[in-house]
Amino acid sequence: MTEGVTEVDPPYLYPDYRSTVARAPSRTLLTLPEELHRLAAPVFGEDTVSPGDADLTSVHAGEPLGERIIVTGLVLDDDGRPARNVLVEIWQANAAGRYLHEVDQHPAPLDPNFTGAGRAQSDAQGYYRFVTIKPGAYPWGNHHNAWRPAHIHFSVFGHAFVSRLVTQMYFPGDPLFPFDPIFNSVTDEKARIRLISAFDLENTKPDWALCYRFNIVLRGRNATPMENK
Ligand SMILES: [Fe+2]
Repeated sequence: MTEGVTEVDPPYLYPDYRSTVARAPSRTLLTLPEELHRLAAPVFGEDTVSPGDADLTSVHAGEPLGERIIVTGLVLDDDGRPARNVLVEIWQANAAGRYLHEVDQHPAPLDPNFTGAGRAQSDAQGYYRFVTIKPGAYPWGNHHNAWRPAHIHFSVFGHAFVSRLVTQMYFPGDPLFPFDPIFNSVTDEKARIRLISAFDLENTKPDWALCYRFNIVLRGRNATPMENK
């Protein structure tokens, strides 16, 4: 079955419906490492979210390699009201830039202590908080010498699964920004900047981890650019 197509969906190609002949892919679809974007439901567990789900560094017996970081921020509606109790999911590469995913076979090591997926619920003020590892850049084959800037994928669900929003968070000062077509596909500079987290000294934990702040605005003039709108 083609990804994203269920039995009840019409096929891409249905010759009697003539415009599908022109628009249906004529070659085998390529699978990109970003394929998780297309999932339409939560993927990281069917049970109730527990506080431990937000700590990607304590899933396995040992600690993952790399720089431990805190990622926190507000989920906000268009008029600045907090979006409470929304499900925030993240997934990411490990410190070496490798995903634990069959599609990612590039020569960087997997980390037996890092899966790279977590989830949290925003609290009564709209805050979410994760503890994780700073992901590495990775090559993705889009063009010669193509590398993705370090990023964390975010999915935010409203109160129904159909209201899912998907985006990516970047880190300040990444030298790969000018070369990344995914980052630059957000053509409005101010909107693009909203995808870059800010170093957050206030929430940095002494002797333990730097903090990056990433607020997510679901709608309106200051909305965070989303991939699935
Ligand atoms: Fe990615």
